[in-house]
Amino acid sequence: MTSLPPPQPLDWTGRRVLITGGVGFVGSNLARRLVDAGAQVTCFDAFVPNDGAELFNLDGYLDRLRVVRGDVRDTPAITAALEGQEVLFNLAAQTSHVESMRDPRTDIEINALAQLAIVEACRSVAPRIRTVHASTRQVYGRPGKIPVDESHPLAPPDVNAINKISGEFYHLLYGRIYGSRPTVLRLTNIYGPRMRVRDARQMFFGWWIAQALSGVPFEVWGGHQIRELAFVENVVDALIAAVAEPAIGQIYNVGGEIRLSLRDLAGRLVAATPGAAFAIKDFPADRSLIDVGDYSADDTAFRAATGWAPRLSFEDGLRQTLEFYHAHRRPYLEPLR
Ligand SMILES: NC(=O)c1ccc[n+]([C@@H]2O[C@H](COP(=O)([O-])OP(=O)(O)OC[C@H]3O[C@@H](n4cnc5c(N)ncnc54)[C@H](O)[C@@H]3O)[C@@H](O)[C@H]2O)c1
Repeated sequence: MTSLPPPQPLDWTGRRVLITGGVGFVGSNLARRLVDAGAQVTCFDAFVPNDGAELFNLDGYLDRLRVVRGDVRDTPAITAALEGQEVLFNLAAQTSHVESMRDPRTDIEINALAQLAIVEACRSVAPRIRTVHASTRQVYGRPGKIPVDESHPLAPPDVNAINKISGEFYHLLYGRIYGSRPTVLRLTNIYGPRMRVRDARQMFFGWWIAQALSGVPFEVWGGHQIRELAFVENVVDALIAAVAEPAIGQIYNVGGEIRLSLRDLAGRLVAATPGAAFAIKDFPADRSLIDVGDYSADDTAFRAATGWAPRLSFEDGLRQTLEFYHAHRRPYLEPLR
């Protein structure tokens, strides 16, 4: 699996690309790949303190791309950033489900209202921009059955998922009515280098990894839940593959390279990390209310439209992830010391 080169369906040389959330986890990995492919990349990011923003994510690339510190809620700023761009990877978001319940207004502002402002801005300054908009599996809520395909009913389990649905549909609506060219990807749990690991805000797996590498036993809540995990390099492949013409105007699930129970995932992490251990615990009350049970993705439609398939295995992804955090305890693990 590892020997395949990354797919590059387009010639990216000189292409002007805007990545909102480009200093965060997924955005920075995408930015690095696109710079390597010759694109002119601008990362637009508000550096939200508790999100995945980390300038070190772009280490070694800062002289080859542009970073604009800006908030997608600031319409003049995002409009100026969009001007002259050919492709928009729209990854900036309020991503915490728990936070969306604590502060629903901020979630609406970023995940819904700012999305409306972005499509309006595209309409005025970049009407033919190609947009790949990141959404989430969370929009399906607790699945009736797995794997989940795109015809599964939407049953948002939290405020975040409601607003992510609004964001999706603003992009699609403006595509239909005004001729912009959006694609929406509903992503599953993503892991890999540059994910936030200093707490569980971004994804439980990052927090597990931080504790495993620090020799602190980590807690697995429940343990029986099935999750599908996607290595970030495979997700970057998918984001790039989504720019292909047949994907325009569509919503697709993008799954990962492995589906397994949380207990098995914890076991794989412990087996790969000397000194690591875990304990099974009950779900905390605030989490169990918005937990979605089991999830795995049916991404047949996306594969058929773009030819994408996960290129790297879970073993490769986990190994590369652990190597990355071994090599870069600073700045990612620093607060644990
Ligand atoms: N990581 C996952 O497991 C996962 C799963 C499903 C969907 N997604 C989606 O992928 C996208 C990227 O997620 P990520 O994991 O890279 O998160 P992240 O927190 O690492 O990155 C998000 C970035 O957006 C920036 N941002 C937040 N609010 C902003 C605002 N108002 N204006 C400008 N920038 C802002 C943050 O500073 C951060 O750098 C999100 O849309 C998320 O919903 C991620």
